[in-house]
Amino acid sequence: MCGIIGITCGSEPRESSHGVLDVLVEGLARLEYRGYDSAGLAVVGADPAAPLWRVRAADGTHSLDVVAKRADEAPTEATAGIGHTRWATHGRPNEGNAHPHADCTGRIALVHNGIIENHVELADELIADGHTMASETDTEVLAHLIEANLAADPSRTLADAVRASLPRVRGAFALAVIHAAEPGVIVAARRVSPLIMGIADGAAFLASDIPAILGLTHDFFVLDDDRVAELRPGSISVTTLDGTAAEPKPLHVDWDLDAARKDGYDDFMDKEIHEQPTAVADTLRDRVLPDGTLVLDEVRITNDELAAIDNVFVVACGSSFHAGLMAKYAIERWARLPVQVDIASEFRYRDPVLDSRTLVIGVSQSGETVDTFQAIVEAKRLGAKVLVISNVVDSSMAREADAVLYTRAGPEIGVAATKTHVAQITALEILALYLAQARETLSPTEARDLLSAMGALPGKVADAVARAGAVHTVAEAYRDASAFIFLGRHVGYPVALEGALKLKEISYLRAEGFPAGELKHGPIALIEPGTVVVGVATRTPVWEKMISNVAEVKSRGASVIVVADDGDDETARHADAVLWVPATEPLFSPLVDVVPLQQFAHSMARLHGLDVDRPRNLAKTVTVE
Ligand code: F6R
Repeated sequence: MCGIIGITCGSEPRESSHGVLDVLVEGLARLEYRGYDSAGLAVVGADPAAPLWRVRAADGTHSLDVVAKRADEAPTEATAGIGHTRWATHGRPNEGNAHPHADCTGRIALVHNGIIENHVELADELIADGHTMASETDTEVLAHLIEANLAADPSRTLADAVRASLPRVRGAFALAVIHAAEPGVIVAARRVSPLIMGIADGAAFLASDIPAILGLTHDFFVLDDDRVAELRPGSISVTTLDGTAAEPKPLHVDWDLDAARKDGYDDFMDKEIHEQPTAVADTLRDRVLPDGTLVLDEVRITNDELAAIDNVFVVACGSSFHAGLMAKYAIERWARLPVQVDIASEFRYRDPVLDSRTLVIGVSQSGETVDTFQAIVEAKRLGAKVLVISNVVDSSMAREADAVLYTRAGPEIGVAATKTHVAQITALEILALYLAQARETLSPTEARDLLSAMGALPGKVADAVARAGAVHTVAEAYRDASAFIFLGRHVGYPVALEGALKLKEISYLRAEGFPAGELKHGPIALIEPGTVVVGVATRTPVWEKMISNVAEVKSRGASVIVVADDGDDETARHADAVLWVPATEPLFSPLVDVVPLQQFAHSMARLHGLDVDRPRNLAKTVTVE
């Protein structure tokens, strides 16, 4: 879950456009969504006899600021450097556990994302051989293992020592290493955890994620599993672990740097909420022909195979799971296929019943979430067809799947998913219609009406986004409330779950989502005067029942906020406050209804003075179980 970065650009780089330290600090700032418990960097100079220079800090969300200030003390002749922003897994978030980790000599420094599963066994061996471990992390053993392999054969280069070390390592890693004796060289390697590299203007660089090095190039290379790369100024050479030359895979990315900057917004979450109409429009783009045929060229499953599918599973975590729940209604209604939606971490351990007629849809913004990744690996093992919905081109899950449907939301930096969530709902709705088309389960008139309603969605989402001021006024009225219950029915139920998740994760307020019909089976006991209930009450087929549930909580003293269609005074009559949205076809309504709930959570967090982009304890990409 950590972020790593590295750059090499020869001597005197601080005078050049891509100074080592500037690139490291800027890149780490753009990687902080991967974790921000601590930060650090290390650089080597031009003189092989000189020591390497390292700085680390563990000051919560200020860690990188501390590191950036101390970067002024670095040697001006830095030729290559590596940096890290951490989300602690093994070892507390303190300076000693911050990366880069060093070997006993202090001349090797290493950053790592992933988990070294056999670190205890390796540490025991290394300690028995006289090494001293300075941290509680799983990572540090790698620096000592490389040190030992260098010492074992003085003719070895750093890359040779990394190749000699990795066969001993179990687990997942993307790592970058520098050695004071090899100025201008970074050695990188990966297994499972993502790592991309690039070359531009005489420099070579690497990162765990694209946003970190956007602005330096749009053309990247992806390092395959169990490959070792040697980066020198302007060149990258790759080998397998036995030293055989290998080619990295090229990857072109259209995202631009502005997308990874705040662009005048106070925080990324606000910016990304405003980008939602574009995310929806871009995800629809080129996928509906003028005659209404849906084209999903990238879905490499034939129409015959799709027609043979007789059941669907959606596996995902968090907001992506909620997008999956929303899609269940559309796929079942339009394509007449039974759909089960599973939390990915539960799916993989419960021995699910799948076969070649099962379509498993993995939904993951990052395409790297380990639980979802392992769930699709298990689904493939059991013979199912796997389709992944991901926002990141060539992500680990995209590579593992039989087919990919990309959301085109651009990079999302705020930890709370917003624009990628609505892009996922859009992609899943397209897929539902595509399945219906392949299975001929919708009449031409129904299909035409739905496609026309779909075409209007970017405009409706834009209309909803434009109402942030009104939502903020409602949030101000409830700023002192400490407990919220979100209710919904039918497609409003996953919207309620998403509203509650957004509120709890960025404002740290108690917020639970329930299916409104389930209220009487227990949760209604929570209602007392002052409890705030947020009801998703737009006009779905179960609107009347939803209104009865709203009336029940109101009569027990709850303060009620409803999400309601424009002009629906009947719904408003039951509420203390209304979050108005433009009306849309019920199965598309989650796309619009979720917007005021994102804005409500955003306003509450801001009113409480919280850092909405970096909520405590969270990381954007969860690559540990
Ligand atoms: C919530 C949020 C998380 C993610 C979850 C899955 O705002 O962002 O719940 O949705 O960690 O992440 P991906 O979609 O990358 O698999």
